[in-house]
Amino acid sequence: MATQNNRVRDLFDLTGRVAVVTGGAGMLGVQHGAILAAAGAHVVLLDLAAANPALRAGQLQRAHGPECLGLAADITSEASLREARDAILARFGRIDILINNAANNPKVEADPTGEPKQWLRLENFPLAVWNADIAVGLTGAFLCSRIFGQEMVRRNAGVILNIASDLAVIAPDQRLYRKEGLPEEQQPVKPVTYSVVKTGLIGLTRYLSTYWTAHNIRVNAISPGGVFAGQPDEFTAKLHRLIPMGRMAHKDDYQGAILFLCSDASSYMTGQNLIVDGGRSVL
Ligand SMILES: NC(=O)c1ccc[n+]([C@@H]2O[C@H](COP(=O)([O-])OP(=O)(O)OC[C@H]3O[C@@H](n4cnc5c(N)ncnc54)[C@H](O)[C@@H]3O)[C@@H](O)[C@H]2O)c1
Repeated sequence: MATQNNRVRDLFDLTGRVAVVTGGAGMLGVQHGAILAAAGAHVVLLDLAAANPALRAGQLQRAHGPECLGLAADITSEASLREARDAILARFGRIDILINNAANNPKVEADPTGEPKQWLRLENFPLAVWNADIAVGLTGAFLCSRIFGQEMVRRNAGVILNIASDLAVIAPDQRLYRKEGLPEEQQPVKPVTYSVVKTGLIGLTRYLSTYWTAHNIRVNAISPGGVFAGQPDEFTAKLHRLIPMGRMAHKDDYQGAILFLCSDASSYMTGQNLIVDGGRSVL
């Protein structure tokens, strides 16, 4: 009995490990960081300066105990990431876990002026926005994997987790975003880059998983469904009808799966995409 209890603890224990979460000061990044810190990891929240990662890291440390670090960095810049890597190594000496979580998450709803976002539509979608979304969501994940992954290669151990989305496995249902009374060419849509970035992350996951198996680095993805964050009733009512569990996710609904994928509890799992979406994609 005692041995099995130890086994449960050991499978999920991250004491002494160092976990980097990109976009770590955002809504879900903080949640991911919290569960890893609660399991004993030193968590490094890496985010743009404007998101105040140092403040968030201080909160994690006070709430959970292990020393945490907030670093201002831009994941689209190799120089910025090298600086971040050096700061992490100077403080903790190692990197065990990387969660590629940062992304541009453009709101589909009209902006505060009430103007419908016609520019989100495929026929208008600006090349500059396409490039910016790919730069953060996909190129940023590639650069972080390359730069932080080298530290895992050096120690022959590590875990990379890519945060994809249910929209990596299903198409957006554009009916969710429709607004009564607007002409067709003004109807809001989920932008094309979201699907492309998230599907690309699944490809990056598979590629890295076989590339670094000899170095004992496991690479997986998670595909979360939408999190409720005050979206309009009309939208949530439509979405709830598409989800067998009948609700959007709570922001802490992914913590169990995140801890599983980042810990030894998933020790024989690599190259996979864990879909956690209240059942939406089974319909
Ligand atoms: N919220 C959801 O419903 C949901 C559902 C499925 C998947 N996801 C995915 O989960 C992840 C987190 O989502 P969220 O809702 O917390 O979003 P969020 O917008 O709150 O957080 C994203 C963070 O990324 C940071 N970021 C943006 N560009 C950056 C850059 N160049 N360098 C460093 N950091 C940068 C932002 O500052 C922000 O803090 C995203 O990949 C998102 O696509 C979210």
